[in-house]
Amino acid sequence: MAASSVFRPGLFNHKVAIVTGGGTGIGKAISAELLELGCSVVISSRKADRLEAAAREMRQKIPPSSPASVTALPCNIRSEEEVKALVSSVLKRYDRIDFLVNNGGGQFRSPAEDMSSKGWKAVVDTNLTGTFHCCKEVYTAWMKEHGGAIVSIIANMWNGFPDAAHTGAARAAVDNLTKSLAIEWAASGVRINAVAPVRTAQYLISFVSVFQDAYEFHLSVWLQGTIFSKTAMENYKEYGPHLFKMSVPFTPAKRLGVPEEVSSAVCFLLSPAASYISGATLKVDAGQSLYTSMWEIPNHSAWPEAPEGENLDALNELVDPKSKL
Ligand code: ADE
Repeated sequence: MAASSVFRPGLFNHKVAIVTGGGTGIGKAISAELLELGCSVVISSRKADRLEAAAREMRQKIPPSSPASVTALPCNIRSEEEVKALVSSVLKRYDRIDFLVNNGGGQFRSPAEDMSSKGWKAVVDTNLTGTFHCCKEVYTAWMKEHGGAIVSIIANMWNGFPDAAHTGAARAAVDNLTKSLAIEWAASGVRINAVAPVRTAQYLISFVSVFQDAYEFHLSVWLQGTIFSKTAMENYKEYGPHLFKMSVPFTPAKRLGVPEEVSSAVCFLLSPAASYISGATLKVDAGQSLYTSMWEIPNHSAWPEAPEGENLDALNELVDPKSKL
């Protein structure tokens, strides 16, 4: 059954949005809801063929009475020149840009000690610098004179992001960028906010391919509170259904979220219902980020000793320090 927006039909009639990473997952759900509400959407990512296929699929669902259209324009957001060309093409075609949704991003899983400088830079360039390029270009080329609304999709990195420190740092930086731009661009009538879902980490796929019982708990903890999508489940191949099911008991909601639940938050922030909201980050995680840590710490005896005294003696009687290992 196709999801239907809770917002008023025609709410975004004749508006124009750019959605980076708009052809898959959360970005696709955002694009589909904007289209349903009458907004013309330019979806953008690096992979032209996948993007065009997504645009074709979305185009078929637009009713003939709608003013909306969908256009696929490939762009590598790491490149300032490509972002400039994207924005210029959108303005040539539509003559306005009301909304920017920064959803394009990516990362790979690695302990910080094994991350190369190149790998670190690639993730920061995409998630942080790419977002900056898009914000700056739509602002200078259109929103500075005409106003607009921007939403950036970040992640649940509030307690750090062990095993993906690069993306944690980049997403936290986008949270802060959102606040700076909200102040700097207020005088142009630009509102800018962020949405922080708990995201399915695609980079787990390689880890899943060496799946063993010992990893099962670890993986389910990684997936807890996650946003479920058919694409994401298929990405985990035969382990997908099991992994997603296993993560449910670890969530406060006792169910997973779906991309449409992120999309409705984005549409709210873009809409006049959020006309007094700027510089905010809205968590879409059913309280998951308040609930528990995602990271299992291995047993160790490396921690500095507590100071000697009667409290330590009593503690050692209660818990034998050697029994920890
Ligand atoms: N999604 C992931 N990486 C991207 C990039 N470099 N440009 C645009 N969209 C992306």
